[in-house]
Parts: sequence; C-alpha cells; structure tokens
Amino acid sequence: MSTENAAPRFPLIPITYSPDWDYSNHVTIFSIEMTMIHNVFIRGLNSIYENAPSIPASSSDVIPFVGYALAWVSNIHDHHHGEEDIVFPFLQENFPDDMHKNIEEHKTFRGGLDALEEYLKAVQQGTKGVKWDGEKVKALIEAFGDGLVEHLHEEIPTISPERLSQVDHDGLAKMVAVHNEHIKNLPMATAHVHVFTHHDFETYPSWPPLPAPVSWFVRNVLYFRRHSFWKFAPYSRTGKPQTYVAPSQ
Ligand SMILES: [Fe+2]
Repeated sequence: MSTENAAPRFPLIPITYSPDWDYSNHVTIFSIEMTMIHNVFIRGLNSIYENAPSIPASSSDVIPFVGYALAWVSNIHDHHHGEEDIVFPFLQENFPDDMHKNIEEHKTFRGGLDALEEYLKAVQQGTKGVKWDGEKVKALIEAFGDGLVEHLHEEIPTISPERLSQVDHDGLAKMVAVHNEHIKNLPMATAHVHVFTHHDFETYPSWPPLPAPVSWFVRNVLYFRRHSFWKFAPYSRTGKPQTYVAPSQ
C-alpha cells in the first residue's frame, strides 16, 4: 500500500512496483529508475512548498530548512547536468527531436529555480534587508513548479523501453556506467541522504539498488552530517513516513 500524501500540490509520476524489476537490464529499467529519482525530486518540492509557510521567521528551524531546500536545488541542478552532459547526447543520435526538447524544457524553469536559490542563499547568508518569509518561498515555487514537474513527467516516455530497445546496447551500457560515476561523485551527505529520505521504500523496496553496506552508510553515517535538515523530509532515516511540525513560537 502506498504511503503517499493523497493530494500533494505537485503530482507524482504513477508507477506500479514489480518485484521482477531487473536493474541489470538498462533497456527496461532506465525509465523506471528515472521515474524513481524524479519522484524523489517531486516529493522534495512538495515538502518545501508545504512546510515553508509553517516556519515562523523567529524559529531556529529557519536556517536548517533553508539548507534543506538548497540541497534540493543543487540536486536538481546536478541531475540536469548529468542528463545534458551524459544521457541526452547519447540518445540524441537516435531521437534528436525529443532530446532537444528535453534540454529546451530545462531552460524554461531555470530562471524560477535561480530566483528561489538566490532568495534562500540571501536568507542563509543573513543578507541585509532579507527576511525569512515562507509564503514568499511558496510564491517563488509557484512561478516554476508546474513547468518543472510537467517536464519531469514528460521526460519519462522519451526514454521508454520501446525507445531504448532501438539504441546500440553496448553504447547504452557505457552511457549508464558513465552516468553512475557522475552519481557516485555527487556530494553524498546531501544528494544520497536526500534520495533516502524522499523515497517510498514501503511501496518500492528494491530501489535504489545499492549494496547493503552502502545503504547502511547512508543511513547511519551520512545522515548525521546534515542531521538538522532531514526532519523536514517526508521519510525518516529508516524510511518511515514522517510529518514535520513547526515549533510554536
Ligand atoms: Fe531526468
């Protein structure tokens, strides 16, 4: 049974879990894995959108929340860089129009994302005249959220198993290996923990397909490096659903 919030502001990409998902078969699994990570980002966006207005400017949670939201922003940037530098150039040979469209879509929400990042950094740095305002964060997200989430949905059919079965299989395996290296080199204390605290393990238990010691390290070591961030996430350190309640003033 899914533990997802019934009606989040930004809709998740529907996908039905199968215990038969084969993570070594890139043709069939690539779009499934992309759906999983896109849903991680959508849950993160919903969490920022829904929690921001509940945090008063006087709260000691403002700075941790800003750090949490900035981690989401940089994860989105890193995801799109990986696609633009590694994934799409490979697929462009077979599907030039669709991949070009994906890159064009990245540009459409970039300005709104930058405005959110700029505001969050100004709050974090204590820029003169800039105060925390959770409603402003919501408004900044309204400016780009639908475009971003629509893009995250629409990208999935462009990398469907039907499509990927038409590409050079050795080339696909090489591209996935390079992309996996890109993922390994991301800042683990924010990127990897963000995935673990925004993924519905109850419904999709086999993803991410990591060796048990790596998952253990994420939950028991990396999690604590930015401990103050993750209470805002929809899932706990051990993958249980959680709800953030802002402290009363
Ligand atoms: Fe993507």
